[in-house]
Amino acid sequence: MTQHQFATEGYAVAPVFDPALVAAAQADIGDQIDRVARALHLPFEHSRPDLPITERLDAIAAAEPAYANLLRLAVLTDAHRGPNLTALAESPELKAIAAGLADRPLGGGVNTVRIRANLARFQQHRHNWHSDVAIDDGTECGRLRITAWIPLMDTGPDTGGLEVATGRHPAPFPHVRASDFHIEDDQIADLPRVQPACPAGSALFLDRFTPHRTLANTGPGRFALVVWMKAA
Ligand SMILES: [Fe+2]
Repeated sequence: MTQHQFATEGYAVAPVFDPALVAAAQADIGDQIDRVARALHLPFEHSRPDLPITERLDAIAAAEPAYANLLRLAVLTDAHRGPNLTALAESPELKAIAAGLADRPLGGGVNTVRIRANLARFQQHRHNWHSDVAIDDGTECGRLRITAWIPLMDTGPDTGGLEVATGRHPAPFPHVRASDFHIEDDQIADLPRVQPACPAGSALFLDRFTPHRTLANTGPGRFALVVWMKAA
């Protein structure tokens, strides 16, 4: 069923990990914030180590937005190299499921891995409609085959999840270069849209040409580990 859905709709949600393992990986994000906060002049307590990661960056931003943004960028840039998150990204189970969904062998080159965050006080950074391969011109970026989007907590339409314009396409929709790089809404107006629930432990697999965007989040912070997998 998952494989059929991916082949026809360009996305699928599948259980991959023990939810406890994914929740434990949240510690890598807290550790990253701790490490950067200790390197700065501002006293460490300003980084709100008393709070869980779901509240921490928004709470810092309420008092000190620039400081919170620096810590947020440190998470997005480098937190995925933490030991627990690395174990998730390199999981053989994850790769096996992705290889089963993709229509050609995976494993060429090094996968790109990053943390993505959807935080109430940083809504200007949500991603508009796009596909992960926007220009299929034979360059290295175009070798991306399938994306695994792995939320670190239960995520869905009301908790900062993704919206997907479903369908499997032979080429990307045109992207417009503006302040971001996005697909205009009218280009995909005819496609069915879904806002899948992704419980902790699941992964949302996306074909490289499937349009998706980040939904609004006014609640606790949502973090996801994203692995972009290339063709062999
Ligand atoms: Fe994306």
